[in-house]
Amino acid sequence: MQKKITQHQLEEWLEHVEPFTQLGRVPDYIPALAKQSPDNIAISVVYKNGECVKAGNLNHTFTLQSISKVIALGLALMDKGEDFVFAKVGMEPTGDPFHSIAKLETTNPSKPLNPMINAGALAVTDMIEGSNPNEKIGRLLSFVHDLAGDNSIEIDMEVAESEFETAYLNRSLGFFMKQTGIVEGDVEELLTTYTRQCSIDVNIQQLARIGAVFANEGKDLETGRQIIPQHLARICKTFMVTCGMYDASGAFAIRVGIPAKSGVSGAIMGSHNDFGGIAVYGAALDEKGNSVVGLQLLEILSSRLDLSIF
Ligand code: DON
Repeated sequence: MQKKITQHQLEEWLEHVEPFTQLGRVPDYIPALAKQSPDNIAISVVYKNGECVKAGNLNHTFTLQSISKVIALGLALMDKGEDFVFAKVGMEPTGDPFHSIAKLETTNPSKPLNPMINAGALAVTDMIEGSNPNEKIGRLLSFVHDLAGDNSIEIDMEVAESEFETAYLNRSLGFFMKQTGIVEGDVEELLTTYTRQCSIDVNIQQLARIGAVFANEGKDLETGRQIIPQHLARICKTFMVTCGMYDASGAFAIRVGIPAKSGVSGAIMGSHNDFGGIAVYGAALDEKGNSVVGLQLLEILSSRLDLSIF
């Protein structure tokens, strides 16, 4: 039987988590993100039949940040195939922070551990087909339009430029991987594509719908068109379970048990094969880079509806 929630329940939960907006910190390593107010919070669920329930600051938009890593992985897998992608990027979780450079030198052969940490995500973005950043990001954005069922989604260029100017650590990862042959293209062009990819700007319902398409075996919710092959959607969701919440993925699997991906903008996208797509948002982050309010909301949702997949 399909488990459902009401808008009233969502509103109650938002009220319950409101005090948590005072905890955690809005990240400042990307200057444009430091301007976000932690007071805007929202939650949305899109079922696999396309029906949507939502509550909170519904018109507020935020950038995908690391959630884009799941989407870029899907496109790179469609472009280049599993063998090519996983020859360059591993499949194993890491206990290190998402921006860590440490393992790149100490693992042998030197390749990023998985596509959800920054090193792996940069390597994946480098694999997207296109002869220049505009072509690559154009293809990625139209993939996002298909997943969200909404062609109005755009890139927040202020956030993209702010990140591009200050992406010292990601540049280091890019140049290290250029040296080792994991990255094939130009590193500055890669940084252009990557920072724009992270700055794709969505609202809470658009994000939940993307999660719902991954839940729906990669098929469009209305037409049934296969947007991403089922086995590739499954790979993306598996990475969400093992690496989606970075070095908090283990605790999250125990407490929530829903495939999910977080971003430093404060959003988290969940994708539950039976239930559908879930999006939560609150800009203040815990020390691992996950939204404090978002984690609370997902814990409540999972426990009230008994949604753990385990
Ligand atoms: O590359 C970065 O650092 C950001 N554009 C994305 C990092 C991120 O979202 C980590 N998430 N919690």
